[in-house]
Amino acid sequence: MHIHMPGKQAQTGLEIEKNMDIGLRFWYNLIGYILILGGKAMLSKKVVELLNDQVNKEFYSAYLYLDMSNYYKNEGLDGFANWYKIQAQEERDHAVLFIEYLQQNGEAVVLEAIGKPDKEFSKFTDPLEAGAEHERFVTGLIHNIYAAAYDEKDFRTMQFLDWFVKEQAEEEENADDLIRKFELFGGDSKGLYMLDNELAARVYSAPSLTV
Ligand code: FEO
Repeated sequence: MHIHMPGKQAQTGLEIEKNMDIGLRFWYNLIGYILILGGKAMLSKKVVELLNDQVNKEFYSAYLYLDMSNYYKNEGLDGFANWYKIQAQEERDHAVLFIEYLQQNGEAVVLEAIGKPDKEFSKFTDPLEAGAEHERFVTGLIHNIYAAAYDEKDFRTMQFLDWFVKEQAEEEENADDLIRKFELFGGDSKGLYMLDNELAARVYSAPSLTV
């Protein structure tokens, strides 16, 4: 005999749903704990070393660009001097971003001595070429940290570095752009004067990345 008991049926349905909920929550929590205990929430020793080293490299970059700025200032090209002084400020910002990222992850920041900029500049194009070469070197450093983070499945650091990967592409482009502009306009004093005026207009803006 079939007895229709809608109340009981609804209750059973609710119970099943509730039990499923508990089951799902259990697995969800278990997977979470496994991920945390797997150690992936912390940065590896190698990545921390590379990030710390990058702090130093960024400060060195700031030093190098200040040296270039001083060279142009001595030569009377205040616009070029301004452009590189702002570049130095940006490099200092990069260093601070690496510091903040290390601190955000509970890692100690180790500040090493900054190397002396030792490039000799004897003609106006020398800093331009040295700058472009230096940016390609820095791109290699950033990619190297990225590769280490990738090997460790350190997705957090990879995401942090994404901004720098893009930034490096821009910095290389800017450096190459300066060389091209100098080749086009720097050959005569009137062109050089106008180019210097253009570079004098560069203003500092804070990085779009915050940690
Ligand atoms: Fe911080 Fe120019 O790279």
